Amino acid sequence: MDEQLARRDLLRICHLLYERSYVVSSDGNVSVQLDDGRILATPTMTCKGRMTEDLIAVTDLDGRSLNNQRASSELAMHLLIYRERPDVKAVCHAHPPHGTAFAVAGLPIDQPILSEVILTLGCVPLAEYGTPSTDELSDAMRPLIKHHNALLMANHGAVAYGSDLWQAFDRLETLEHTAKIAILSRMLGGSRNLPPDAIEKLINVREAAGYLDQGARCQACGYLHETNLSCPTGDRPVSNHPTGNGGGKISLTRDELVELLSRAVTGRD
Ligand code: 13P
Repeated sequence: MDEQLARRDLLRICHLLYERSYVVSSDGNVSVQLDDGRILATPTMTCKGRMTEDLIAVTDLDGRSLNNQRASSELAMHLLIYRERPDVKAVCHAHPPHGTAFAVAGLPIDQPILSEVILTLGCVPLAEYGTPSTDELSDAMRPLIKHHNALLMANHGAVAYGSDLWQAFDRLETLEHTAKIAILSRMLGGSRNLPPDAIEKLINVREAAGYLDQGARCQACGYLHETNLSCPTGDRPVSNHPTGNGGGKISLTRDELVELLSRAVTGRD
């Protein structure tokens, strides 16, 4: 990508993140990989609403500084995404309030409630909590990155990535919009999931149209319990899946449920 264009887009996206309240204060970070492998990144501890071009940090793919700006403290997380997903050239991390509310509540965004989201983003898993800027966070995210284009980070925020800055930003925006609609519909009495046959049709349309790249074929996994589809990454049961989308869910037969409830009522072990 042309460096001048990348610098312009990075600045525009920083300003949009702030204007849309996806970040406040010095929250969030954005990066883009240039054709020659260098990374342009937001500097640490800088308000994205007041970002100017001279503040952009430049590093190599190992995070070594190539100019006089100190890149984001979370650059390692961006570099991990570039390593795990060679198709990804831009990363956007923010704390959008509705998406982050899911992350704080310990919930993935994986309910099949919106057709467009199944087509363009798929489910967004929740990475376990890890201290920001440390290996803990990278370790929690690593197994999920290959199979998804956006992740929630428990008690922290969200990250989305794509083949360019606008795709990364758009995915972050879809994540936030979906989370907002999910919360609003719950306030109206509860959302209704799309039925399994509708989900399967959408996934077929998505695969045929190539809306999601090969690298992210596990996007259906949050919906697997609703359909007869199997996991494209290894056919594991949802509760066992690397996305964590089982969310601690278990399935019981009616008899097992009755037995469990009667034990709870009678105090039997
Ligand atoms: P940086 O200012 O170092 O990029 O960190 C911001 C942030 O969002 C931490 O989660």
